[in-house]
Amino acid sequence: MSKKIFSGVQPTGNLHLGNYLGAIKNFVELNNDDANECIFCVVDLHAITIKQDPKELKKNIRETVATFVASGIDPKKSIIFNQSGVAAHSEFAWILSCVARMGWLNRMTQFKEKAGKDKEKASIGLYSYPVLMAADILLYDATHVPVGDDQKQHLELCRDIAQKFNNDFGVENFLKVPEPLIQKVFSRIMSLKDGSKKMSKSELSDLSRINLTDDEDQIITKIKKAKTDPLLMPKDIKELEGRPEAQNLIGIYTSLNNSTFETSIKKYAGKNFSDFKNELSEVVVSKIIPISKEIKKLLEDNSFLDSILLDGVERANKIASKKIKNIKEIVGF
Ligand code: AMP
Ligand code: TRP
Repeated sequence: MSKKIFSGVQPTGNLHLGNYLGAIKNFVELNNDDANECIFCVVDLHAITIKQDPKELKKNIRETVATFVASGIDPKKSIIFNQSGVAAHSEFAWILSCVARMGWLNRMTQFKEKAGKDKEKASIGLYSYPVLMAADILLYDATHVPVGDDQKQHLELCRDIAQKFNNDFGVENFLKVPEPLIQKVFSRIMSLKDGSKKMSKSELSDLSRINLTDDEDQIITKIKKAKTDPLLMPKDIKELEGRPEAQNLIGIYTSLNNSTFETSIKKYAGKNFSDFKNELSEVVVSKIIPISKEIKKLLEDNSFLDSILLDGVERANKIASKKIKNIKEIVGF
């Protein structure tokens, strides 16, 4: 079946192995299937829900494009563009913010996590962030949205918003209700320092994550220093229970090899973590270093990266401007 794919990544720097295994690896596979139409958005409007240094933001937008391309997304085939380049995203987000209910947004766990204790000081944009995300997806009639596990709740909200819009305005099926595409084997990559926390851009310790721009020595050191437990490698899946760090490292190994937990566990059953870590380092280096080298190379050519965005904005705008015109008609503008 042909799929219309839409996904977004925030240009907030430090793209890491969690972004790669949870999302970008999936983007590449979808891009490679000729039956799909794919749109990958650098969501700069989402990035500013938390304060950004404008110079850094500009650099991070280009770095996100470079990461997409270095990972294997073909910018001629798929559309790669930045969200602020297509005005319809902001326009539609406002309309949808009049459809979405406070009660729905109040349930969003990511806002609670990101706003922390002092919710009064969080930006209004951080609160309504999932509404903008719904606008992104619904503008392009996306059928499938590849994301990491942490975005599942936002996608459910997007589905609710689409259905309410269609009901409120009596336009059955006008907004397409999208399906999430979440990696099955291993969808939530955890911090290398704490198996109960997700690997994240904003974590203070750089040792907690493998950045897609790390060099070989950095990767080896980080895996060597990654937290484990005092037991030997598990002999079966059951022995992984209650061992989040072991589960995470074996998950990373499994996902990078496109394998299964069973196969990985069988290979290292009863061995020391240090033996496993050596091989894990080798796999991470062999998959990530080519990407890291390509990112660095691409970052030397800003005009090439900018031309990808320019072309992407033009193509995205063609689709989005038609949809927003119909939306305005439906709303009564
Ligand atoms: P963000 O950097 O927050 O824009 O996230 C970009 C994509 O990476 C989203 O689809 C996230 O769900 C995914 N992602 C981010 N961190 C992780 C993680 N630790 N594990 C799995 N997926 C992740
Ligand atoms: N909220 C997503 C994240 O932080 C990024 C995002 C914005 C997105 N718009 C989207 C993802 C539309 C999928 C579809 O990871």
